[in-house]
Amino acid sequence: MEFRHLGNSGLVISEIAYGNWLTHGSQIEEDAATACVHAALDEGITTFDTADVYAQGRAEEVLGRALKGQRRDGLEILSKVYWPVGPGKNDRGLSRKHIVRGCEASLRRLGTDYLDLYQAHRFDYETPLEETLRAFDDLVRQGKVCYIGVSEWRADEIERALKLADEMGLDRIVSNQPQYSMLWRVIESEVIPASRRGGLGQIVFSPIAQGVLTGKYRPGQEAPAGSRATDETGGRFISRFLEDDVLERVQRLVPLAEEAGLTMAQLAVAWVLQNEAVSAAIIGASRPEQVRDNAAAAGKRLDADLMRRIDEVLGDSIRRDPALTVSPEQRP
Ligand SMILES: NC(=O)c1ccc[n+]([C@@H]2O[C@H](COP(=O)([O-])OP(=O)(O)OC[C@H]3O[C@@H](n4cnc5c(N)ncnc54)[C@H](OP(=O)(O)O)[C@@H]3O)[C@@H](O)[C@H]2O)c1
Repeated sequence: MEFRHLGNSGLVISEIAYGNWLTHGSQIEEDAATACVHAALDEGITTFDTADVYAQGRAEEVLGRALKGQRRDGLEILSKVYWPVGPGKNDRGLSRKHIVRGCEASLRRLGTDYLDLYQAHRFDYETPLEETLRAFDDLVRQGKVCYIGVSEWRADEIERALKLADEMGLDRIVSNQPQYSMLWRVIESEVIPASRRGGLGQIVFSPIAQGVLTGKYRPGQEAPAGSRATDETGGRFISRFLEDDVLERVQRLVPLAEEAGLTMAQLAVAWVLQNEAVSAAIIGASRPEQVRDNAAAAGKRLDADLMRRIDEVLGDSIRRDPALTVSPEQRP
């Protein structure tokens, strides 16, 4: 495994992190989830990403149990707050009440007394940013959280948060967690430059486009049994990539991966790690073999000619519009 600093912060994380969205407490049974976490640890992964909303808290519980017995200070545990976790009006968003109560609940479910990074899972237009930043700052001062970050915030939102934190003498956000892959590059034009100026690192999610960049989804064919596309919840999220034009282009990456001596998943994970603004790629997995396959992308260099040929193959299927980074106008 290779390690990188989280943005300009002093925290070091594994450049490949393991995340449990849609899998733990949901798509896969607990023994498979535990096997994936143990495979990640065997591969040298120390950074684990989850959220309160994943499987309505069950994902944090499963991860907490799977990591039990590990030396806590040898791990970096990341969680998030914003999406609804209950029926109440205050069971969501970035109000002081929900951030404080949300953090306490995440710590309880994970069976730990601190989070390495606590992330605002989207921007909340119904809460003053001052209130959100001060609540996060309090958690840092209490030692419940080491660092704070955001997820899928726009460039101007990141800039506002940094300016306000400086003016108010509050802890600064150190990271952003956006979607980023060969197919989804919407952070490149605005979010990354703003983040770099502010010292934030990107912890990117869905680096293999939820499985699509492995090439296992073939144009015009049924999705393979047991894959995310066949899962009721997962199928909704992956559908945006399941278009024949995209799938045909992805098949044309197969010879490029072979030439580079990489599997398709490794090519996709290595691709996001070529970008120095990226602090880590969070991989998901439904079985331990996938963790081992994807973790082997650590430290792999892709030469400029290969990067250019990837762009040529994917062509118009690449999404670049920065307007695609959005948070809900109203709390969900
Ligand atoms: N902040 C946010 O809003 C946000 C949003 C999404 C995700 N995330 C974070 O990012 C993490 C990763 O997201 P993701 O799961 O979408 O990432 P991903 O790595 O792009 O996709 C993971 C899925 O692809 C399939 N797969 C993985 N490796 C494979 C391999 N070697 N061969 C074949 N299939 C393979 C598996 O699904 P199947 O086996 O079921 O096909 C696996 O669950 C999440 O767990 C979460 O921590 C954050």
